This record gives sequence, C-alpha cells and structure tokens, in this order.
Amino acid sequence: MYQFDITTADKAELYRNLLSALDALTADEPDAIANMANVAALVWEYLPDLNWAGFYRNVGDELVLGPFQGKAACIRIPFGKGVCGAAATTRETQRVDDVHAFPGHIACDAASRSELVVPIVHDGRLVGVLDLDSPSPGRFDADDQAGCEALVARLAARIA
Ligand code: SME
Repeated sequence: MYQFDITTADKAELYRNLLSALDALTADEPDAIANMANVAALVWEYLPDLNWAGFYRNVGDELVLGPFQGKAACIRIPFGKGVCGAAATTRETQRVDDVHAFPGHIACDAASRSELVVPIVHDGRLVGVLDLDSPSPGRFDADDQAGCEALVARLAARIA
C-alpha cells in the first residue's frame, strides 16, 4: 500500500508533494504502463475538480489511449486533431480555458469544459501526452501548467 502525505492547501506545495510522490512511485519501476497507471491515479486523487486524467501514447505517429482515470474515452487521436493532437504536433502545452471555443476539440466526455495537455518528450521523441480535463471553465492556470510540466519532465524517461 502506498500512502502519501499530500497537502492541498497551497498549489505550489501541492505540486511539490505530487512530484515527490511521482518520484517515489516510478523511480525503480521500468514498466511504462505501470508508471503511467500510477501517475494517472495519483493526479486523479489529489488534483481537485477533474473529470478525466490520463495518458495518450505515441504509437506510430498516432495518439493511442493509455492508462487513465475517468470515463471511457476516444481510443485513437490523429496528430493535429483536438487539443491532444495539437500538443503532439506542436510539442507545446495546450491550456484551454473553454474547450467549446477550441477548433476541433474532441469531446470524449460532454462534461469537459477546460483542458490541459502536456506533451511528453524524451531524447527528442514524442512519447505521448498527459491530458487533464475539468468540468469547470478556466480550471487550469499557469501554476497548474508549470506543475504538470514538472511532473512530466520527471516521468518522461520512465515511460519511454
Ligand atoms: N478532449 C481531447 C480528447 C481526449 S479526452 O478529453 C480524454 C482532445 O480534444 O484532444
């Protein structure tokens, strides 16, 4: 059993705690799927106001659904399509305050209103993306983006 003492009072501290928990969970485990599964569970448990949290993997230049928490989701997303596809093509984080205003947004869960997608790059290769969805508009701010980018930076080599 894993038990993490994660405080959620202050956002910067929350992300520092999440990073140490992620580190502890994945440092000695070489299996990519196991590591993505545990990180999806961790983020789902401790980040408030999410309706979906998980991974899409780059399989032959197509995004394929990976470990996640939330409702069953679209399985395959072409590069360039939707928010995840935009993150994969540009290799830049996509922080979308209102998904209804994002051209080509793919509605896997009708409840989603805002979204944060962080590309995962290791050794110059796009490994996949981390995708977080929220039922609240504008749920993700610059601190969430920086926090999630730090999580992904630590995780990338461990899911490559
Ligand atoms: N909304 C995403 C698709 C993935 S789901 O949100 C889980 C998109 O537009 O890429």
